[in-house]
Amino acid sequence: MADKESTHHGRRDFLQLTSIAVGTVGAASFGWPLVFSMDKSAEVKALSSTELDIASIQPGQAILVKWRKKPYFVRRRTKDEISAAEKVEVASLRDPEKDSARVNRDRPEWLVVGANCTHFGCIPTGAKATENRGEFGGFYCPCHGSHYDTSGRIRKGPAPKNLPVPPYKFVSDNILRIG
Ligand code: FES
Repeated sequence: MADKESTHHGRRDFLQLTSIAVGTVGAASFGWPLVFSMDKSAEVKALSSTELDIASIQPGQAILVKWRKKPYFVRRRTKDEISAAEKVEVASLRDPEKDSARVNRDRPEWLVVGANCTHFGCIPTGAKATENRGEFGGFYCPCHGSHYDTSGRIRKGPAPKNLPVPPYKFVSDNILRIG
């Protein structure tokens, strides 16, 4: 868990730079305190969804956001990353899932996945293109060496499952709602 915590803190400056949540701002990003005066029902309502302005995320970049107290990656994939994810032989995967089942078919450039490694919960690197994205170009968990591909699927290392895809939708061209 110490590793998880240090990874979490290491992301904070990045998150504050890229925090572009609108609406439920308090719940939308790391490092932002929730509004303390909220009563319980208001707090639950605020946490039920998170809306993000994704316009400034460039292909190959990702942001890390928080929804229901858990971190999520929102990554804008390049054409090559999409192509790599689509070409994978699904039957060969530890947790077989087609890329098309993990993204919005109309907007496959967007990958939205949980950011806790499915092994012991560390936050993998790879949100920034300059970080280690592992052998399959997606995300790499430094805790015990799990490699995820550009669809967030586990490809190597001890993690048993793919990074989970939360419920989400595009409420407009540039606004993504998680939850
Ligand atoms: S927590 Fe990610 S590999 Fe162990």
